[in-house]
Amino acid sequence: MKWIYSVSLAASLVIQPALADDLFGPHPINEQARDAFVSDLLTKMTLDEKIGQLRLISVGPDNPKSAIRDMIQKGQVGAIFNTVTRSDIRAMQDQVMQLSRLKIPLFFAYDVVHGQRTIFPIPLGLAASWDLDAVSTVGRISACEAADDGLNMTWAPMVDVSREPRWGRGSEGFGEDTFLTGQMGSAMVKAMQGNSPADRYSLMTSVKHFALYGAVEGGRDYNTADMSPQRMFQDYLPPYKASLDAGSGGVMVALNAINGVPATADSWLLKDLLRDEWKFKGITISDHGAIKELLKHGVASDPQDAVRIALKSGVDMSMSDEYYSQYLPGLVKSGAVSMAEIDDAARHVLNVKYDMGLFNDPYSHLGPKESDPQDNNAESRLHRAEARDVARKSIVLLKNRLETLPLQKSGTIALVGPLADSQRDIMGSWSAAGVAKQSVTLLQGMRNATAGKATLLYAKGANISDHPGIQNFLNLYEKAVSVDTRTPQQLIDEAVEKARQADVVVAAVGEAQGMAHEASSRSELNIPASQKKLLQALKATGKPLVIVLMNGRPLTLVQEDQMADALLETWFSGTEGGNAIADVLFGDYNPSGKLPVTFPRNVGQIPLYYNHLPTGRPYNPTKPNKYTSHYYDTANGPLYPFGYGLSYTTFKVSPVKLSARTMARHGTLEASVTVTNNGARDGATVVQMYLNDPVASISRPVRELRGFKRIMLKAGESQTVTFKIDEDALKFWNQKMQHVAEPGKFNIMIGLDSVRTQDAQFDYL
Ligand code: BGC
Repeated sequence: MKWIYSVSLAASLVIQPALADDLFGPHPINEQARDAFVSDLLTKMTLDEKIGQLRLISVGPDNPKSAIRDMIQKGQVGAIFNTVTRSDIRAMQDQVMQLSRLKIPLFFAYDVVHGQRTIFPIPLGLAASWDLDAVSTVGRISACEAADDGLNMTWAPMVDVSREPRWGRGSEGFGEDTFLTGQMGSAMVKAMQGNSPADRYSLMTSVKHFALYGAVEGGRDYNTADMSPQRMFQDYLPPYKASLDAGSGGVMVALNAINGVPATADSWLLKDLLRDEWKFKGITISDHGAIKELLKHGVASDPQDAVRIALKSGVDMSMSDEYYSQYLPGLVKSGAVSMAEIDDAARHVLNVKYDMGLFNDPYSHLGPKESDPQDNNAESRLHRAEARDVARKSIVLLKNRLETLPLQKSGTIALVGPLADSQRDIMGSWSAAGVAKQSVTLLQGMRNATAGKATLLYAKGANISDHPGIQNFLNLYEKAVSVDTRTPQQLIDEAVEKARQADVVVAAVGEAQGMAHEASSRSELNIPASQKKLLQALKATGKPLVIVLMNGRPLTLVQEDQMADALLETWFSGTEGGNAIADVLFGDYNPSGKLPVTFPRNVGQIPLYYNHLPTGRPYNPTKPNKYTSHYYDTANGPLYPFGYGLSYTTFKVSPVKLSARTMARHGTLEASVTVTNNGARDGATVVQMYLNDPVASISRPVRELRGFKRIMLKAGESQTVTFKIDEDALKFWNQKMQHVAEPGKFNIMIGLDSVRTQDAQFDYL
């Protein structure tokens, strides 16, 4: 579905279907005109003014508004982040236009990752929808709301592939798969930037974190990534490339080192690869304070050295430190940095400002002052219906014994758990300008669904964690987690008493949003002990137990899987999360989400991902052999595989039909299956197509996702789904780092998850 946006009389954003196709597709910038304009501007700028353009300042205690006014007057700032209201942004842009010599407009950026005022599911949840239209809706609405707040740029999408569930930032990305992440990232870029980032309701994106941040050692945030070139190019780099090919104007440089070189100091990454090979023309921005951190990485001897290295490596703009302004003038004077290098970086900044349309109209995302919202968080500014719809699509049904779900809207239901009524947690991390008091908790959602029909009992049952250290950690920067001061036993007793009165128990457990965030690495992936004890006590009542998970990473759920009659993965589902989860619990929406990450049985199995390489001694569970690759102390393989998710109906997949048994060099091939909804309810599912190259010059993964399609089938209905395979889908980086498709047999596997598939074979000539 394509959309255009307009502002209604009530000043709220209204989404309308597109009137004509030619409204869509990026409008190309006239690069010649831009280059001429920027070259001319550069000739008028002093060195200090050029350096000023390279500085991105965060508004906050270190930089109060008065200090920023001063910097603006002196031309010492190029862009601002962490300001999110039209009035604040207008005031700063006014200062530029009134006080600065050259009146070069600022751009304004923010972390709009899964919504601005309306919060959608966290990106890991969006990935679980496998629905590119849903992701486009999120991108369009997020951009609209952010641009309506005066913003020009977002630090998103995050396309760091991660096979490391201990890393807290997996919640901000699209999971473990290269292809799915690339598709999601590019859909997000296209939706946010729209026809042009200069449009009133579009936002320029900056793809992050370039590169390989998702591969940090041991999942420890900010750590090192060490990787073979084959794995880097095959598995980790393609999503950045796909998002840049989709037109992203910005790239945020990662904080980690790659094979020993911090990304901020990596001229191979930022120049040879990004600019020369990938032809990226936009702007590179350091991550927060990353230039300073080159000292601690041990690659710069002093601040001047750090600045010299970062600039020469290709970091155009420095986020949130004063180093560029302090040291670049001296470095230019001594000749360590050339004027041409300063001009290059400044040119990239001015280019994106041009692309944002700021030289035409510095107020293009602000509109007239009289139109400023009276209340930034007015209900009328939210897009609740879309948020509810996307959230429902992101929910994954992991278990449903004896059709425990959907629940009846009758009798007595006990809802317990520390996440059942937490407005803050359901929004997830990086919730931009979203306001917790506007989010619908599960308790509220279930109340809405059952009002006048069923009795709903509620008890908190446990704190997120009883560990004071963890409670303090979660409340360090914001009072995010409220701690009930009753004893753990008192909390459990109250919950058990409610459970005893009920026909069914729903337990909302998992992680606080702060447990799946930046700087939230975990060494365990379990549900915290306080909540586990609650679940055990509930199980002991003998009542049917529905576990509703809220979390931002794969968890280890062996015990919960055993205890639960039904298990629902809801991630952090956003402003309308509670209504969306209730829709699924009561069968008003049939779940269709599929896992974008593998759920291991225990931490010791990590890394555990579906597209692993074969070994010389593969483990065969039906014929176990000691000298094969496996753990002897746990069942082999994941608890829930990649791509997995149940429905309230059942689907059957036919054998694969190929358009031919062979595929010619440079040719294509079509593979089809017919999917039938052979259950009693209408429902959607995701058909997934995997390829495997069984004999190649280097070992190739046992399967790799190469296509997917989300389909909706009425009960009894069938649909044929066809995937087109081209040479690109067969290619890989060989030992000599050539991107090749090698002739030979290929296996194709199509199914509704990564394990149970229909398989066929073809020859590539
Ligand atoms: C994060 C980035 C984020 C930036 C600005 C950094 O700490 O790593 O992802 O965009 O802060 O908030």
